Parts: sequence; C-alpha cells; structure tokens
Amino acid sequence: MSSTYNARSAAAYEHFMRRWSRQLSPRFVEFAGISDGECILDVGCGTGSLTRVLLDSADVKSIAAVDLADIYLESARQAIRDPRVGFKTGDATSLPFADKSFDRAFAMLVLHFVPDAKKAVSEMRRVVRSGGVVAATVWDCLGGMPAQRLFWDAAATLGIASDNVLRDFYFRPMTRPNEMRAAWSEAGLKSVEQSSITIRFEYENFSDYWFPIAAGEAALGKFALSLAPEQRAALEAAVRNVYLGGEPDGPRSFATTAWACKGIV
Ligand SMILES: C[S@@+](CC[C@H](N)C(=O)[O-])C[C@H]1O[C@@H](n2cnc3c(N)ncnc32)[C@H](O)[C@@H]1O
Repeated sequence: MSSTYNARSAAAYEHFMRRWSRQLSPRFVEFAGISDGECILDVGCGTGSLTRVLLDSADVKSIAAVDLADIYLESARQAIRDPRVGFKTGDATSLPFADKSFDRAFAMLVLHFVPDAKKAVSEMRRVVRSGGVVAATVWDCLGGMPAQRLFWDAAATLGIASDNVLRDFYFRPMTRPNEMRAAWSEAGLKSVEQSSITIRFEYENFSDYWFPIAAGEAALGKFALSLAPEQRAALEAAVRNVYLGGEPDGPRSFATTAWACKGIV
C-alpha cells in the first residue's frame, strides 16, 4: 500500500483541509524557495492549493502535479487552467518521471500518508537535478493533530476504534521530531534545513467541523462511515460535547504546526 489517505469528495476536501493548506502553502514556498524559469514538481497536489501558490510565486517554466486521487486531480484541472501546468496520476513512491527532470520538488502534507515515506523522499531526490531542491511539509503531530484529537480521543473513549485505527492517526510517518531531517540526510541530500510553520484551524461552529466527516472525507470520515448508525450518532454527540466544552456553539481555533524540511541534491 502506498497511501493511507482516503479521498472521497473534492468539495468535502475543500472544507476538510484545503482551507488550511491554503494558509500553509505561501509559508512553505517561502521556506523552500522558488525562482523564475524553474521546472517544478508538486507531489500529492490534491486539489491544487500549493500548485496555485507556486504559479503565483514566480514565473515558472512548468509544473508537473501528481496525485493518487483522480477525483482531486479532476477538481484541480478545472480550477487551474494554465498551459504550464500538467496534472497526472502518480504515486510518490514511484514517480512517473525520468531522473533529473526538475529544478525543485515539493510535497505538502503528503508524506505522513505514505507508509514508505523514505522511498518517496528518495524518488523526489531522483527526479531533481544536481543542485536542485527537495522540500516537504507534514503536520507536527506525533500523538495526534489538535483539531482531530477531539474526534479520535472521543472514539477511543467510546471504545469503538481499534488500536490499529488509532495508531494510524496518532503515529504517522515523518512526524517525529527530527525524523524529516534524518530522512533527508539519509537520502543523500545536502545543506538540510528543518523548520516549523504554525497556522490556525478555525471553525465557525460544530457543523463546520463535522461536515467533511459526515461526507466521509479523509481518515475521520472513512471511520465515521464505517460505524453502525447508533455508534456514529454516539460519536457525533461525544465529539460535539468536546467541541462545545461547556460553552455555546460557535467559533473554535486550533493552533497547528507543520514540520518543513528542505535539502539540496
Ligand atoms: C492532505 S492532502 C494534501 C494535498 C495538497 N498537497 C494540499 O496541501 O492541499 C494529501 C494528498 O496526498 C495524496 N497522496 C497520498 N499518498 C500519496 C502517494 N503515495 N502518492 C501520491 N499522492 C498521494 C492524497 O491523494 C491527497 O491528495
């Protein structure tokens, strides 16, 4: 298996993650760098939030954007109609490109879904020319992401999530402190730099939080849809309780940090 990600609906993805990846994209590009005339690779492009920011950040020559999820690629193709951008189905652990095809490779919020994440890093290195840059971000979430712990902690307390399901959420590849730095060095990348970027997951109210989960998006939605109706109702009630925290329904804001790492081929 080359991914633990569950893509079901591009519209639900917009709600679930894209609004956060839109915040993260410009900060990640600032960290990784970009220059006019470059050939860029966007690995795990999803619905194209980073692709859009890459286009806006420099007068690039081309962007190849790959993802495993055709429904996301289709939405990205509709949203970004630029002759310099080519969207393609592809696996991060077996990139469909020749050696040294790119000046810079980016992977935003992808590697923590790739069980063999080190293979994905070595693939990014393979397809970038000597002197080019390989950069990625993953959530800094050893033990779980703040906004999603509401969900998984409630599921664990209700006794409806197996250890395997919980482990997949709480312990993901590349999320340990310095794990990215070590993987970049092990892949032979030079001048490796690791940093942190903090953004905020902000919700209007509980429905805003629950909508993509009810739509079956990502691991949370997949898990929720796998439950019997009465279990799903119990989980929703428990998560709502935690979200409300004794206060009326309304906005909540979860500061969330990503690791960012880059190195030179
Ligand atoms: C959280 S989304 C991030 C998408 C986009 N980079 C963004 O930040 O909006 C994770 C993406 O990684 C893709 N993905 C997961 N494993 C992959 C793999 N092995 N190869 C290519 N794409 C993968 C998923 O399909 C999904 O689109």
